[in-house]
Amino acid sequence: MKAYFLSSQKAISTAELNQQGIPYEYIPADQSYMEPLKVWMQRRAYTAHDEVRLNAETPKLEAILKQFEDEHLHTDDEVRYIVKGAGIFDIRSQDDQWMRVELEAGDFIIVPADRHHRFFLTEDQQIHAVRLFKDNPSWVPIYR
Ligand SMILES: [Fe+2]
Repeated sequence: MKAYFLSSQKAISTAELNQQGIPYEYIPADQSYMEPLKVWMQRRAYTAHDEVRLNAETPKLEAILKQFEDEHLHTDDEVRYIVKGAGIFDIRSQDDQWMRVELEAGDFIIVPADRHHRFFLTEDQQIHAVRLFKDNPSWVPIYR
């Protein structure tokens, strides 16, 4: 994980992300990662998990990515654990600056409900992630 303010390039530590209301943990992807993820599920009352895979062969990939890349929020947390590949979240700080968070295998992050953000794949266009969520999650994007 690498995090920094988009405007100044100033680095953001894990502690600073936490202070911004964004939990982050590194959980090695080469070992049993479901146990630590289940701890997060208990802690945040998530009831379900699934997996999502996107790559260059994914049908309508461009249309799917378009939904993620415009600034939006939703009323449930967006929780991702990266098993393989990479992804980039831009998340608004509490004073509305863009914080860029570059994620790769082993990175776990919670984009909290009601926080503006956007998401991109990297040039490789490949990600395999676990999602944690509550029953009937509302991820309907509300664009800014
Ligand atoms: Fe989102």
